[in-house]
Amino acid sequence: MTFTSPDDVRHRLDTVDYLVDDGMAMALFLALRIGRPLLLEGEPGVGKTAAAKALAAALQTTLIRLQCYEGLTAGEALYEWNYQRQLLAIRLAEAHHERLSDADLFTAEFLQERPILQAIRHAGPVPPVLLIDEIDRADDEFEALLFEFLGEAAVTIPELGTVTAVRPPIVVLTSNRSRELHDALRRRCLYHWIDFPSAERAAEIVRRAVPGAGEPLIRTATEFIGGVRGLDLDKAPGLAETIDWVAALSALGATDLVSEHIVRTIGTIAKTPDDRDVVAAALATHRASPASAQETQP
Ligand SMILES: Nc1ncnc2c1ncn2[C@@H]1O[C@H](COP(=O)(O)OP(=O)(O)OP(=O)(O)O)[C@@H](O)[C@H]1O
Ligand SMILES: [Mg+2]
Repeated sequence: MTFTSPDDVRHRLDTVDYLVDDGMAMALFLALRIGRPLLLEGEPGVGKTAAAKALAAALQTTLIRLQCYEGLTAGEALYEWNYQRQLLAIRLAEAHHERLSDADLFTAEFLQERPILQAIRHAGPVPPVLLIDEIDRADDEFEALLFEFLGEAAVTIPELGTVTAVRPPIVVLTSNRSRELHDALRRRCLYHWIDFPSAERAAEIVRRAVPGAGEPLIRTATEFIGGVRGLDLDKAPGLAETIDWVAALSALGATDLVSEHIVRTIGTIAKTPDDRDVVAAALATHRASPASAQETQP
């Protein structure tokens, strides 16, 4: 099962409530069509992780996820030998007065698959989606471990040989740009930068995520967030924060941003004391003059 056109991508992702613009639809279509990993970058909360989840849901296939972090090793990402099982096998053999050679011990039976090998060896009619999330959090040496996999959908295990995917997995890598990635990694991927969505698409995303929220609240809140994102904030609110805010406001019965207890919900969109002050000031301006509030935002 694959996509027939960028429009088909947009349509099928829409059915799983992931809304894409033309650029993202084209990036996903091309990555799948020419069989290359897709590297997604963008500010926090613009839907990088959600893209891979939505892709797997739309294709009705398995999502395999590798969350990267500092110190991530090949043993956690690719494969590991199951030493305990090997030891057990040696003891059992000894009990029967037999000796096991390396060839007996380093076989697929004693291999523990980690996400990348699991994606390569996945058996099924549709290849899985492998999400390598936040690759910039892993040490830069870790990237080199991925080159063979990203370029050839294969992993070489010294004791066993090269394992190549029968159906190469669909690979999505994400990065928040906390550090530069190797050129060699970028070269093996298609690249797409996800922008924060337009006010209209942000409103539609919130509408789907918070079905109970009223229309005026959704529109004013997403427009307000659009304006706030232009302010000098430590952490600009992403879609997750926008959804949380509208959900919180909706739970409190708010229908717009004017009522007084709105200020107490700021913790859903501002995540540092400084940001809290900036957002509170913007909200006060909005409440004083809701119609012209957007004009005061840069
Ligand atoms: N295009 C979209 N359509 C529908 N929902 C979206 C879209 N983009 C983001 N979302 C929603 O926003 C939430 C946050 O997105 P996500 O966690 O994927 O962001 P991210 O870019 O991975 O952020 P981070 O860099 O912090 O990991 C998702 O759970 C999803 O509900
Ligand atoms: Mg993410």
